[in-house]
Amino acid sequence: MGLHVLFKRSDGYHELDTVMIELPIFDALEITPSAVDSFTSSGLTIPGEGNLCVDALQLFRQSIPVPPVQMHLVKKIPMGGGMGGGSSDASFVLKNLAMQFAPDLSSTQLEEISAQLGSDCPFFIRGGWQVCGGRGELLTPIEPILENCWVVVINCGIHISTPSAFQELVPDASRKSVFEILQMPVSDWKAHLVNDFETTVFQKYPVLKELKEALYTQGAFYAAMSGSGSTLFGLFQEEPKALHFETTLEFSKVVQLVKT
Ligand code: C5P
Repeated sequence: MGLHVLFKRSDGYHELDTVMIELPIFDALEITPSAVDSFTSSGLTIPGEGNLCVDALQLFRQSIPVPPVQMHLVKKIPMGGGMGGGSSDASFVLKNLAMQFAPDLSSTQLEEISAQLGSDCPFFIRGGWQVCGGRGELLTPIEPILENCWVVVINCGIHISTPSAFQELVPDASRKSVFEILQMPVSDWKAHLVNDFETTVFQKYPVLKELKEALYTQGAFYAAMSGSGSTLFGLFQEEPKALHFETTLEFSKVVQLVKT
């Protein structure tokens, strides 16, 4: 919630200020011993080029010996959607392998390994509510700011390239931090809590702006794009029923934020 891109760094990444929240939305992944390594999937079709779960296995093997394993992924979370689905799968591979083959590996060590796979992977090792700085990998836990509200997550199938989305926006390091803005009353969030990717992504895909508006007109007290898009989310005080959108959705989910 809230995503400020502060500046472009000398290593090519962008310095971020954002708050990430773990939601109960899942793919399913099974890892079992096998004669040879294999990866299969069902559910949404995973494009051929590279696979973060296989990358995670190979990366883990660079420091810890792992016998051949069979992985099966049931893919439900849209890819290229800004929900971190691929990163969460890869992080789960690392967590699962650590549980089976390196139980002494600390969570911090696992987070460090995961950061080599993607800037948001350490978040998916840790979960909860985290302020994410650096390129997204530097985590500071915070107390949940919302509880018992409902989150509507929608995706209409538009695929956004994260590197291009970063290239197209104008960074700005001169603002209040996302954490400070989150301390404001939730009624002020609509005016102050922004995702920097929205400006350029909504220009390119006006339908996403319309979907965000539709979340507001149907009662959301806050709505925004998730990550670099194209997934949108709306926060509701009451469980929203019979939501309607003019655009066909490829993915929609309503979950409740429960204080853990
Ligand atoms: O870290 P990850 O591999 O997920 O990032 C994908 C791409 O997104 C990077 O290669 C980079 O182009 C861009 N990126 C960025 N700044 C970040 C995170 C990602 O520019 N903080």
